[in-house]
Amino acid sequence: MKIGIIGTGQIGGTLTRRLSELGHEVYIANSRGPGSLSDLARETGAKPVTVREAAKAGEVVVVTIPEGKIRDLPRDLFAGVPDDVVVIDTGNYYPRERDGRIAEIEAGMTESRWVANQLDRPVVKAFNNIYARHLLERGRPAGSPGRIALPVAGDDKHAKEEVMRLVNELGFDAVDAGGIDESWRQQPGTPVYATDFDAAGVRRALAQASKERQPKWRATENSPGSFAQPA
Ligand SMILES: NC(=O)c1ccc[n+]([C@@H]2O[C@H](COP(=O)([O-])OP(=O)(O)OC[C@H]3O[C@@H](n4cnc5c(N)ncnc54)[C@H](OP(=O)(O)O)[C@@H]3O)[C@@H](O)[C@H]2O)c1
Repeated sequence: MKIGIIGTGQIGGTLTRRLSELGHEVYIANSRGPGSLSDLARETGAKPVTVREAAKAGEVVVVTIPEGKIRDLPRDLFAGVPDDVVVIDTGNYYPRERDGRIAEIEAGMTESRWVANQLDRPVVKAFNNIYARHLLERGRPAGSPGRIALPVAGDDKHAKEEVMRLVNELGFDAVDAGGIDESWRQQPGTPVYATDFDAAGVRRALAQASKERQPKWRATENSPGSFAQPA
């Protein structure tokens, strides 16, 4: 399969390595341009391209950059990209440490709905709840006892099935976590976040999740993008 990956950090670099090993044709892009990606290209055989080229390169395109930086991507990035190309969002909103305030998410929009709106393109949410190192090292063949499962959320049945197949190929069970407006169930701070449960555990954790965003995962008035409240 041809796969574009936008963002080659912890998660993007891991997916580049694993998907290349599995025989996929991987196209990689970051913010600094293809010239900065020669080491990863040499290691994996992936092809460095621009962000615009990566968006057009794949049957699947993974967007895996810090949430706050999504706003820096061109709004027309996916214009002209066929509708059957599947876009995966691995993102998490870290308002305090990294991303600053995103008002829509603070008001209750799911993180992936916000990403889809920014990109003007439906997304499938996956790989957001597992540490990059575990994604690299903890994949196991189907049927292995205790195989880690990953929730996959999306509105398009076929796109979601395609991502669930990829998750399985990477060595993890895939659990259908519903549509994008349900995807708060796998956001930071939820029971399924960074816990490496098996499929039964993921289903249970998704069911137990609470929609209320915990204070730790909310912006403060000091977060970039916030305005101090009048005294
Ligand atoms: N780390 C984890 O274990 C983990 C696990 C699950 C989900 N996530 C989520 O996945 C997303 C990516 O996380 P990460 O840890 O992989 O990030 P990271 O290691 O900080 O890497 C970020 C990547 O995004 C690229 N980037 C930033 N702005 C860009 C832009 N405007 N255009 C193109 N590329 C851009 C960076 O390129 P340059 O270096 O050239 O700037 C870099 O390759 C985040 O939302 C994170 O919360 C992370």
